[in-house]
Amino acid sequence: MYRIIDKIISFILEEIKYNHDKVNYTLYQITLILILSIFLCILLFLVPYLKTENNVGSFTYENRDFSYEPIKPIPIDLKLNEKKVSLGEKLFQDPIISRDGNLACSNCHDIKSAGILPKSKEIETEINIPTVFNSSFNFRQFWDGRSQNLEEQISGQISENNLHWKIIIDRVKQNSNYNIEFKKIYNDGITVKNIKNSIAEFEESLLTPNSRFDKFLRGEQNQLTELEKKGYEKFKSLGCIHCHQGINIGGNMFQTFGVYGNYFKDKGKLDPYDYGLFNQTGEEKDKFKFKVPSLRNIAVTAPYLHDGSVKTLEEAIELMGKYQLGKKISKEEVFLILNFLKTLTGEYKGKSL
Ligand code: HEC
Ligand code: HEC
Repeated sequence: MYRIIDKIISFILEEIKYNHDKVNYTLYQITLILILSIFLCILLFLVPYLKTENNVGSFTYENRDFSYEPIKPIPIDLKLNEKKVSLGEKLFQDPIISRDGNLACSNCHDIKSAGILPKSKEIETEINIPTVFNSSFNFRQFWDGRSQNLEEQISGQISENNLHWKIIIDRVKQNSNYNIEFKKIYNDGITVKNIKNSIAEFEESLLTPNSRFDKFLRGEQNQLTELEKKGYEKFKSLGCIHCHQGINIGGNMFQTFGVYGNYFKDKGKLDPYDYGLFNQTGEEKDKFKFKVPSLRNIAVTAPYLHDGSVKTLEEAIELMGKYQLGKKISKEEVFLILNFLKTLTGEYKGKSL
């Protein structure tokens, strides 16, 4: 397009030169007006094209291909066995599915409280309770990733001991409704494997799609404010995205906690579980290595970190800058990232978490 304008300008200059030598001054004037009007018409015609070209270089998401974004939206369509999901949900809420028969999964992972312990409740746990929402997207389960999948995780949580499981199976068998429901789904009825299978199927249904950020990723520009968009850009440019990425904005790799500086030394306390993956492998390189946690619904799942030591998201962002990026993140940057992270709260059964 610039070439066309260039040509027109040089043409006008040529004309002026040529006409200057001419005696007929009126003809010169008419020609010039004519050329200028054609030029004006062309310019008007090109205005819409000029606009799009300007936008390419500036800060805008228009016409952007979102399939290249390092974060992917949570799928909306789920293909799950509804009968298993419904049975799994009952087991999840039933205290008989625990070693002592008094604590249901839902007591610690309350579905109505973003999949964590409700604020009003006090249950002592060694390590911070992670949310069960979207856990099926994590490549491993638990903070240190010691379980490969959800079914293995249930044994890790309840008991690795067959004797404990035998007691649990006996309790489930005493319930006639469970006997009927298990028989409808599984040929071999109530077994450890089938209990785990149905709870895991229920957990796979615990997804939180339709966060404002996911809608934005699907192309709905107006879902995010300019501030939130800037927050996302900051999250990427500062380097958070190198670890927190993919469908769960985390949950797909191990990373050392304290890449820059020693968090545990600064805290002045080191508990056995702080060694992370090292507890499984015994290898020096795995000391303080953790599964990078998911940042989905992070605004509603305080407290933070495996030790639950951080109460606010602002504090967690600053701390990540210090120990994971070796950067002092300014107050303004923290504010931007905080606003972006707040857009990651999704919906369960059509309701925001
Ligand atoms: C006493 C409270 C408590 C109960 C009861 C409980 N959990 Fe947990 N859950 C935790 C804690 C604490 C962790 C983290 C442990 C760790 O990482 O070492 C956890 C981790 C998990 C995780 C891993 C999530 C992730 O992102 O890594 C899943 C999934 C889970 N629990 C599901 C269940 C299921 C299913 C049950 C019932 C069979 C259950 N929990 C019962 C406290 C509890
Ligand atoms: C080098 C990898 C890495 C980078 C870079 C990184 N993180 Fe993390 N992040 C982690 C790990 C590992 C943890 C878990 C630490 C723990 O609990 O022991 C974590 C935990 C978090 C948590 C707490 C999650 C929870 O459920 O408690 C938040 C929030 C967080 N990161 C945000 C960020 C932000 C914002 C940035 C950029 C400023 C960032 N992270 C950069 C690896 C990283």
